[in-house]
Amino acid sequence: MTTSLTLLASGYNLNTTFVVLLIVSLSLLPTGALAADPNKTHQQKKLRFGSNGVFKILQVADMHFADGKSSPCLDVLPNQVKGCSDLNTSAFIHRMILAEKPNLIVFTGDNIFGFDATDAVKSLNAAFAPAIASNIPWTAILGNHDQESTLSREGVMKHIVGLKNTLSQVNPPEAKFIDGFGNYNVEVGGVKGSSFENKSVLNLYFLDSGDYSTVPSIPGYGWIKASQQFWFERTSSKLKLM
Ligand SMILES: *[C@@H]1O[C@H](CO)[C@@H](O)[C@H](O)[C@H]1NC(C)=O
Ligand SMILES: *[C@@H]1O[C@H](CO)[C@@H](O)[C@H](O)[C@H]1NC(C)=O
Ligand SMILES: *[C@@H]1O[C@H](CO)[C@@H](O)[C@H](O)[C@H]1NC(C)=O
Repeated sequence: MTTSLTLLASGYNLNTTFVVLLIVSLSLLPTGALAADPNKTHQQKKLRFGSNGVFKILQVADMHFADGKSSPCLDVLPNQVKGCSDLNTSAFIHRMILAEKPNLIVFTGDNIFGFDATDAVKSLNAAFAPAIASNIPWTAILGNHDQESTLSREGVMKHIVGLKNTLSQVNPPEAKFIDGFGNYNVEVGGVKGSSFENKSVLNLYFLDSGDYSTVPSIPGYGWIKASQQFWFERTSSKLKLM
């Protein structure tokens, strides 16, 4: 049994400190926990369903993180403006992680709000800090605002993949050419001790839907390109044979 959940980098354009949380619990099979081998690099850490039959994903979109304490909150009530900053976003994500204890945290774009972020590296580090501190594996893809600070889209993804506990990849090594930055898949194994223990029973695909259209006759956001679809289809067919 193979289930695919496709997470796409979103094209949100909301200039807000706005966090969308979606908790996806997929009860497919009875199940183990995260196999934590301290010797393995984060890239190799095996995700699998827990013995309670659940694999829980905490999705965080549009943190729009900028300069931390000095970046004020938008769209809060007038009496909430004072003392509200990016640090409130971090505190909220920290509380969500503690409350939900997810198996994986997925950041689906506009992690930083580039125009307000003075230093992309600092903003990215701070934005993902609650996930890193939790020691829970996490992944990230880009929105349309992540590259508006001091790093390109490629630069942002390259920085992300070097952070602790992330399963993110810049692009799949087997793809000779693929559009965008942040295309990869993450396999989730079945319950330890079950007949599915070595099988990927849930495949998560992460695709970069780009920032903005570069085709003059098509205004607005970017989109997923044929090269990405080709990779997705090939990967999916390969996994079905395993
Ligand atoms: C981890 O690596 C060290 C050094 O290579 C080795 O001595 C140790 O046995 C390894 N631990 C596990 C759990 O594999
Ligand atoms: C932001 O965080 C500060 C410090 O914890 C808190 O006093 C304030 O109420 C928070 N603001 C909002 C809108 O949650
Ligand atoms: C999974 O792989 C391990 C290590 O190779 C092996 O010991 C185990 O029997 C395999 N489990 C199944 C259900 O095939």
